[in-house]
Parts: sequence; structure tokens; C-alpha cells
Amino acid sequence: MKLSIHPNYDAMSRAAAQCFAQQILKKPDSTLCLATGKTPLGLYQNLVDMFQKGIISFSKTRCFHLDEYLELSFDDPRGFFNTLNQVLFSKVDVQTDRLYRLFDTKRMIEEACLDYEQMIQQYEIDLLLLGIGVNGHIAFNEPGSSWESQTRLVSLSQTTRDRASAEFNPDPVPIQALTMGIKSILRAKKILVLSNGKEKAGIISESFFGPIDVQIPASILQLHPDVNLIVDEPAASVIQEKMEKHNAIKL
Ligand code: F6R
Repeated sequence: MKLSIHPNYDAMSRAAAQCFAQQILKKPDSTLCLATGKTPLGLYQNLVDMFQKGIISFSKTRCFHLDEYLELSFDDPRGFFNTLNQVLFSKVDVQTDRLYRLFDTKRMIEEACLDYEQMIQQYEIDLLLLGIGVNGHIAFNEPGSSWESQTRLVSLSQTTRDRASAEFNPDPVPIQALTMGIKSILRAKKILVLSNGKEKAGIISESFFGPIDVQIPASILQLHPDVNLIVDEPAASVIQEKMEKHNAIKL
């Protein structure tokens, strides 16, 4: 794992955008897989800026997304695909037929998940972006998810639903979601993990510097051969405290 610590959110977002730009410049037809949530918003703004300056183009890329709430209408702005469309897809030159949407088609959820999983395997994700939940979830793989899991229907944990409540208020937060599985995520050639803020400091330390444990889904990333962990200083604070203690003991 490569770790880089940046002084603040903006610097972290710029570093993550550099990583995406390098990938797209090296391989213009890269397959990307994107996260939603608050963490990557700065990264997406940087990518839009780079596109507007003519530095990168998404015209040949394919884009998947990690997960999606169930029970939302097709055009609900709180849906993850629609959010990505609003902050990124609609602002760059990505081709709509190269966007892959994980959606409950009301026909058969299992079939929709299987189709999505097959597409992921067919196109092979070159670069996959993850945020981390305070409970260690990656995508919507909540604590206890199997390492062998693939794209499927899941129930959201209470922690995850509580954290989304402001966004859905006064509506209830969906109880279920569709998500790429842990195995689907680990198939990506390169994984970029982005995390900021003090509230993530504990889980970042546990995930990357503690034992691999199914109760901390992100900890499995320790076994992936190409993970780039990009954080800001507050998110790195527990790791840094541990390193300081370790060095003090050695001295
Ligand atoms: C979103 C996703 C989630 C988030 C995680 C962190 O697509 O897969 O795992 O990355 O919940 O969310 P934020 O960035 O809002 O702290």
C-alpha cells in the first residue's frame, strides 16, 4: 500500500485527481469505478476543471459506480448514479453508452446484479475509487460481509442509515441497497482510497494498520497488490500518533 498524507481536504482532492489524470492519460479507454458520498466531491471538481482546461478527456473511458440505494425513483437526485451524473458525468465528455448503472429495474434484482457483475468482469476495472464508512464499510459492504461477496442486494447498517438521515429528511433512509461485493472490488487492478476528517482517523488506522477482520471490511484492502491511500492530516492523526509512539519506544 502507498500512503500519502496531505495537509487538508483540497490538497488531498488534488492528489487524488492527479492519480485519475495519470490513469486516463496513460490509458484513455480506462475503465473507472466511482464512489459517491462527501469525500470525493473535491476530487470530482478537480477532474471537471482538468477536463475544462483540456488536460484530460473522458470520451473513451467506461465508468461504473460502486453502489446504489434501493427504492428510489429512477431520477431521484439522492440516488448515487444521479449524484455522479450531476457532479461529474454531465460536466465532462463521457459517452452515455459507456456509463454502467446499477439499478433496481423492478424486474429481478438478482438478474440486475448478475448483469452488472458480468460487465465489471468483462471490462476489468483499471482504477476503482473507494471512500470508507466510519464503521469500515467499503461501498455498501457492511461489517460482516463475506470476502467472497459479489454484486448483490444488502441491508444497510443502522450506523450507515443514521449518517444518511439528514440527506433524506423528512423521508426515511432506504433500508436496502445494491452494492458491488468485496470480491468484485478486489478484482480492480488499482484501488484508490480517499479519506478525510478526524472522524475517519480511527477507522483508517484500524483498517490499514490492524488485523484483517470481517468486522472491518476495509481491512481486506491490505491484501490487494496496488492500493493508494490518500488522506488528509486529520484522517491520518491516529496513524501518526501510533508511529510517533513506536519511534519513541525504539529510541
Ligand atoms: C458511496 C460509498 C460509501 C462511502 C462511505 C463514505 O458510494 O460506497 O462506502 O464511500 O460511506 O462516505 P462519505 O464520503 O460521505 O464519508
